[in-house]
Amino acid sequence: MPSLYLCCTSHMKKTFLLLLSYLALANGSKAQTPTWSETIAPIIYSNCTKCHHPGGLGNSSFLDYADVVARKNSIKYQVENKIMPPWPGDPSYRHYAEERVLEQSEIDAIVNWTNKGTPEGDKSKAPAKPVYKSNSKIGAYDLKVKIPTYTSTATTDDIYRCFSIPTNLPANKYIAAVEIIPGNSKIVHHVLVFQDTTATTDNLDKADPLPGYTNFGGTGSNNSVLIAPYVPGAEPVIFPTGTGVKMYKNARIILQIHYPAGTNTEIDSTSLLIRFTTQPSVREVFIAPILNHGNISNGPFVIAKDQVKTFYQSYTVPVNVTLLSIMPHMHLIGKSIKVFSKPISGDTVPLVRINDWNFHWQGQYRFQYLQKITAGSKVQSIVTYDNTINNPNQPSNPTKIVTVGEATTSEMMLTYFYYMLYQTGDEKILQDSSLLTAGFFKPSTHKLSVYPNPVKDVLYTGVDLQDASVQISDNLGRVVLEKTFEKYNGMDKMLRLMTINVNDINPGIYSVIIITKSSGKIYQSKFIKE
Ligand code: HEC
Repeated sequence: MPSLYLCCTSHMKKTFLLLLSYLALANGSKAQTPTWSETIAPIIYSNCTKCHHPGGLGNSSFLDYADVVARKNSIKYQVENKIMPPWPGDPSYRHYAEERVLEQSEIDAIVNWTNKGTPEGDKSKAPAKPVYKSNSKIGAYDLKVKIPTYTSTATTDDIYRCFSIPTNLPANKYIAAVEIIPGNSKIVHHVLVFQDTTATTDNLDKADPLPGYTNFGGTGSNNSVLIAPYVPGAEPVIFPTGTGVKMYKNARIILQIHYPAGTNTEIDSTSLLIRFTTQPSVREVFIAPILNHGNISNGPFVIAKDQVKTFYQSYTVPVNVTLLSIMPHMHLIGKSIKVFSKPISGDTVPLVRINDWNFHWQGQYRFQYLQKITAGSKVQSIVTYDNTINNPNQPSNPTKIVTVGEATTSEMMLTYFYYMLYQTGDEKILQDSSLLTAGFFKPSTHKLSVYPNPVKDVLYTGVDLQDASVQISDNLGRVVLEKTFEKYNGMDKMLRLMTINVNDINPGIYSVIIITKSSGKIYQSKFIKE
């Protein structure tokens, strides 16, 4: 250690000592037993109660201390095994906008708290309970589509019901925002929204005496195209300003809704809100299953009974494109999927990895910043299906040969890409609103401790940040400082720290976001500039 000081100015030494005592403090507080009021409630309120509040799916509310204590073992089990919060994407592969992932320190805190007798702690320090409303989050909208009142008949089997609704749209328009509002959030497990300009789905709907018709995989029409998925707790999809998905004149909207077994007699009337763009020129966002049954390199797409089989898909991207999000789609015997892009030169770009596919939690993985894919890149996937009886999601007993189709017992191998043609600067477009409004109830990214706070000139962080970029924004979300760090130098290198000079920004409250490029990890904190 003493040799470290040889090169240091007295200012650096002072900072280093301050920093050591700060880190020691941080460690010291970790050793205490966490309490509900100070540690657990903030974790539960930012990661769980969005779904677990009265009237939410599953009907278990975690708003009150007593509710959580009553389910402590179940909660401990679910978080330790990473079943809850539901997020099949592997966070060690890639991070996304509004992801539902607990940090290991948060899991440890819940386990530790449960093991130490769930102390409540000082009630006055507990955060206010979040309030959840069922009204729209996108605000103004141009089109509202609502399914007819439907009474679930799902007794022992899950039901997948499609509702085909006319829009009577007089001309093509571009969708700026889409929001799905479950009519009965206790029973709506997922929704897929499609559009279709043919009458096929209308005919299917008319042929069934009850509202809607039953169809598992898609809509039963080859012409319908996906617009958006919904799972409980999902935020509305808002496309970056000036971009949008084309909606066709006179298109019908088809909502495919999953009602789980045991929801019979419950009534639903889910609705969909769409806001169209108002800009005179719009960049079109395309949604297409770029990886599909046509580009499997080791086909045919047939999985024999009792077989575990892996398929490979590859597609060469002809032009520079910008990805907004990615959404893999398989049915029940899908096991795992990894999607990545290999540019002609340079590193592989991880897109998504799901190690334990869960049909019921399929959804869109939106990139925190838009992702550029360069022309000539090979977008590839490796997809495994488990058609044995050991697969807990196996729908057939005895097992049977599986091929492509929309039935519960058939399979699909699609990865939808939301993309547009690349324009310079796209990779700087932020989609993760939680990164700009560092509010308490926003999904947490990796928490960052900055020091000193309030700060006068130089802000220190305790994170290894080689090859990172930094963005500081004011409380209106305006970026006031942007910087990319490539290499460490001097003191920073030794301490594995990064310093940000904030001398030039005006006094006020700021949010700092740090992104490490290699892992895509995002760290965030607020600080006060004096
Ligand atoms: C996106 C919505 C969502 C989020 C976020 C979520 N859950 Fe759940 N949770 C569910 C649903 C839905 C079920 C019912 C089982 C299923 O459908 O997977 C469930 C079931 C459970 C269960 C088992 C049933 C019960 O009530 O005892 C526990 C425990 C649980 N969740 C704990 C948590 C915890 C702890 C968090 C936060 C760390 C969390 N969940 C976050 C939706 C969510």
